[in-house]
Amino acid sequence: MKNLLTKCLLTALLTVFTCSALRAQDEAAPVKVEKKAGVQKVTNLAPTPPMGWNSWNTFQTKIDEKLLRDMVDTYVSSGMRDAGYQFFVLDDGWMAMERDKNGSLIADPKKFPAGMKAFADYVHSKGLKFGIYNCAGDKTCGGYPGTRGHEYEDARLYASWGVDYLKYDWCNTDSLNAREAYITMARALQATGRPILFSLCEWGNHQPWLWANGVGEMYRATGDITANFDKDKHMGSWTALSVMTILDKMPAIRRYNGPNHWNDPDMLEVGNGMSYAEDKAHFSLWCMLAAPLMAGNDLRKMSPQSQSILTNKEAIAINQDALGISAYRYFAFDGLEIWVKPMNNNNWAVCFLNRANHPQNINYVWAEHALHDAQTKLGVDFAKTNYKLRNVWAKKDAGTTKTAFKQTIPAHDAVMFMLTK
Ligand code: GLA
Repeated sequence: MKNLLTKCLLTALLTVFTCSALRAQDEAAPVKVEKKAGVQKVTNLAPTPPMGWNSWNTFQTKIDEKLLRDMVDTYVSSGMRDAGYQFFVLDDGWMAMERDKNGSLIADPKKFPAGMKAFADYVHSKGLKFGIYNCAGDKTCGGYPGTRGHEYEDARLYASWGVDYLKYDWCNTDSLNAREAYITMARALQATGRPILFSLCEWGNHQPWLWANGVGEMYRATGDITANFDKDKHMGSWTALSVMTILDKMPAIRRYNGPNHWNDPDMLEVGNGMSYAEDKAHFSLWCMLAAPLMAGNDLRKMSPQSQSILTNKEAIAINQDALGISAYRYFAFDGLEIWVKPMNNNNWAVCFLNRANHPQNINYVWAEHALHDAQTKLGVDFAKTNYKLRNVWAKKDAGTTKTAFKQTIPAHDAVMFMLTK
């Protein structure tokens, strides 16, 4: 293999990637899936990857009604809602430290003086859907009251507030069985009669891709993300994962992704400290993966660059494609990768990613490539079929696949094309 790589490098020097041995390198051996869990879902709640905003990545538990109302207002005025983002989700820290004397959860009265129903009404009044967080354990990860033993009453309370989305975490769960705990909560949500999207968050510890289809609409596949392109962050007892570390975990489970059961590589860190190029690459890849798009930045202070990334409708259209197929890594060598996503109507999205710390030249002769997705059996031979190219970030038509794509891709950047016939 090493010889092959060297030969590839020497003969092609990143000019043409025709080494078929390197193709589809992330195809994993088939694994048996446990189908459905017997939870009858209300409706088709997430035919395409859910999109929204969540308070955690920027604010952790430092949230309150005033801050969040401003965030809702900016969600609308910044164009996020019009770009397709729908959910406004409060993560950990919204509750009082104790349940009330009847055992009911209450919103922290200092943070939410008008109560949670009033806040939910405000979110709804802006044409958004309202999401909330809790945990399958005795306490949430932040130490607030968890739902264990209160599943049905908590679900009824959320429904009475008008909750449309529940993120359900996995801290302080001791001996609980993950599959059973999530099924119990899914049934409790179901029993309310209100459509509530269920977002499982057990970090991929119990392979939810094998059993969560039919339990919830999305399931975290990894540990928590951090706003770093390729360096994990050690946090003492756990490690926050960089964008590239998470990306590398996704090909092995791509086959489990699809309408109403989305692999969740965690929320977006766009606007949270990475460079413009890195943010663009991060967002491109989450679009390619057909991942949920949950923004996590301070919308009130969003830079024009972050806004242009998060609201790029052409990138979002790739993410929201009706087939819901996650991209596969077609080529990887020396930090340069090509990710490929089969799409509806025989369209394709292709993303060139430069993970290296230096710019790289690419001269990609489309006609020398035939794509074949072993999972979906979809394929295209560019020697025989000509596609129109649209550069999603430049927002420009870029000729056709008859002409080679030549460009220098800066370090940690990505170029994403939409290919149509
Ligand atoms: C876990 C989750 C995060 C966030 C925090 C809240 O770490 O994975 O996404 O919800 O808990 O405490």
